Amino acid sequence: MSKQRALLGTLHSSLLCEVVDGALVIRHWGAPLTGDITHIETAQRPAIANSAFDQSQSGGIMRESSRGFLGRPTLSGHRNGNAWSTKFEVTDFHHVGEKVVVTLRDLHAQLEVIISLEIDLFGVLTQNATIKNLGDTAYSLDEFIHWLPLPQEANQTLDFAGRWANERNPQRRDIATGTWIRDSREGRSGHNFSIADIALTAQTTFQHGQAWATSIAWSGNSQYLVERIWNGEQSIGAGELLLPGEVQLAPNESYVAPTLISVYSHTGLDGIASAYHQHLRARSMHPVRPRPLTLNMWEAIYFEQNEEKIKKLIDVAAEIGIERVVLDDGWFHSRRNDTSGLGDWVIDPAVWPEGLSPIIKYINDKGIEFGLWFEGEMVNPDSDLYRAHPEWILHEGDRVPPLWRNQLVLDLGHEGAYKHVLEQTSAILSAHSIAYIKWDHNRVLVDAGHLGKAGVRRQTQAIYRLFAELKKRHKGLEIESCASGGARVDLGVIDYVDRFWTSDNNDALARQNIQRWTSQVIPPEMLGTHIGPTHGHQTGRTLELSMRATTALFGHAGIEWDITETTPNERELLKSWASYYKSKRSLLHSSTMVRVDYPDDHGLLHGVISKSRNEAIFAYVQITPTVAVNPAPLKFPGLESDATYEIKAVFPAGEPRYMSVKKPDWMSGIALSGSALSAIGVSAPILAPANAFLIEITKR
Ligand code: DGJ
Repeated sequence: MSKQRALLGTLHSSLLCEVVDGALVIRHWGAPLTGDITHIETAQRPAIANSAFDQSQSGGIMRESSRGFLGRPTLSGHRNGNAWSTKFEVTDFHHVGEKVVVTLRDLHAQLEVIISLEIDLFGVLTQNATIKNLGDTAYSLDEFIHWLPLPQEANQTLDFAGRWANERNPQRRDIATGTWIRDSREGRSGHNFSIADIALTAQTTFQHGQAWATSIAWSGNSQYLVERIWNGEQSIGAGELLLPGEVQLAPNESYVAPTLISVYSHTGLDGIASAYHQHLRARSMHPVRPRPLTLNMWEAIYFEQNEEKIKKLIDVAAEIGIERVVLDDGWFHSRRNDTSGLGDWVIDPAVWPEGLSPIIKYINDKGIEFGLWFEGEMVNPDSDLYRAHPEWILHEGDRVPPLWRNQLVLDLGHEGAYKHVLEQTSAILSAHSIAYIKWDHNRVLVDAGHLGKAGVRRQTQAIYRLFAELKKRHKGLEIESCASGGARVDLGVIDYVDRFWTSDNNDALARQNIQRWTSQVIPPEMLGTHIGPTHGHQTGRTLELSMRATTALFGHAGIEWDITETTPNERELLKSWASYYKSKRSLLHSSTMVRVDYPDDHGLLHGVISKSRNEAIFAYVQITPTVAVNPAPLKFPGLESDATYEIKAVFPAGEPRYMSVKKPDWMSGIALSGSALSAIGVSAPILAPANAFLIEITKR
């Protein structure tokens, strides 16, 4: 019988797997493989060391102890203490095109696992698994992790850590023997969630070097692992973090593991980002309408929902060219501050005596869409809902979890609670012209029990179901995933939403880093980026409008500021910036993102280049003052070498603050070849710290 083997992907990356002694073995994931690979097995067969198994062993994709594997297994579980160790055998191997679906069975443990691996046009690997209980007693599943092999040149990992208003800070470390685990136990992905776990070489940069990234498509508890075992084998994996007893498979029941989405790049971290962006853009549900310029009223009014004030905001918004206005927290029953009202999704006549229809009409009459805030998974103890159904919260025994922002979490796994949220939300949407909802999630889940069992998985599935149902009932509805800013940004919820609120921090300097790293995975058109107030509400920092506007341009742009306070000059600049955003958003939202390996730590240079390489927009951001007089020249990789480009600086929201007598001459426009722009570049202006400007590059 010929070997059951599948080679997936040959252009950007390859995965080679085959069946060996009944096990499914991934022989390679990484650089593209072409040509004769017949003798790979022989090539990879290791020496037999002293003090070792008599024959080399391969744990296979299930990483089983029964096959001599000594690292962390793929599957952990038991059947009341039995079936604790497995030995799966491949029973079906189905390879078509760039996809392989493999069925494995262990007839002793009475389990079946179906694994699928698929590489798309962009080199992105999608990995799925279903575990089925074939026995006639319950099987307790403790863990299922998707694993991929890593070559030893991957000697570092990069993941992300953070907190409220400071999400996705990169942390890079050497891989050493042992297991590095990033648990996420908040019941939402979390501010500290690693949007991807990336293995890379010590030399890998934004543009250069190899990287192997994985991202778990899940918004509940999860874990990422990088493991190097004593024999030198390395692997990277991720999966759902299951709480004790959370998955008990009844006979014939299956567990569908969250999908793992992985990318290999030999063009650095930008190569990873580009593949993720293209993969996500190719989904049928990816938002394709031009992303409307948004005014979110939260930082303008907070809980002060005064109709007259709001009308004034709308008037200025219309003058500027805003296309969507969002009424944030505070419109519903008894919600005058954050101590009450969550759970009662009915319009509060104390604030809106005529309901929301008149203000929505006022907004719509100006040609602007209306959006509304919800936080459906939450309940305040001071609410009609909680008074009627205190048993509808996620809890254990007769304990009530500690309050966080004065709120508790509704158990959406409870059909009554689920229906309450769905029907109240849906009734508001049916009765009004609402294009979009911002769905918040302002606390973590702890002690999150559902009828005596761990309930995080059920809760995560319920919110996906609820979003899908709302979209089904209300055609064209867009949803923004918000969780105290960016605490639910992940590849699980992404299929149900159209926008992420990237961070509650609207300070442009802080946003430079937050956006830079969130877009490592998420394409910019899905990241809410707003011009905040002159004096940042989170940091208290005062930043130039040009800096705030340049930063907000690279995403789904908007404003979050009391624009009734703006000066006539600021309004003119906002108008010009708004029309610039509208004229450039198709470029900003469909192109290849570039974070230049800029040699000067005091500045950042980043931008987008259109797929045709005819057009590009970059931003230069002076973070801190340079030590040298002149910052390093600005070089632009990724253009067509022989083509001639016009390059000039543009200032749709005003010029930055310079610290020089004269700025470089090229800024008013010159022509240069792509190779010159990449190899030599142009001189950087000397800017005051926390200043930025835009650079347009257009092919002649
Ligand atoms: C947290 C969000 O991130 C903010 O944008 C705002 O919606 C508040 N919640 C409202 O309570």
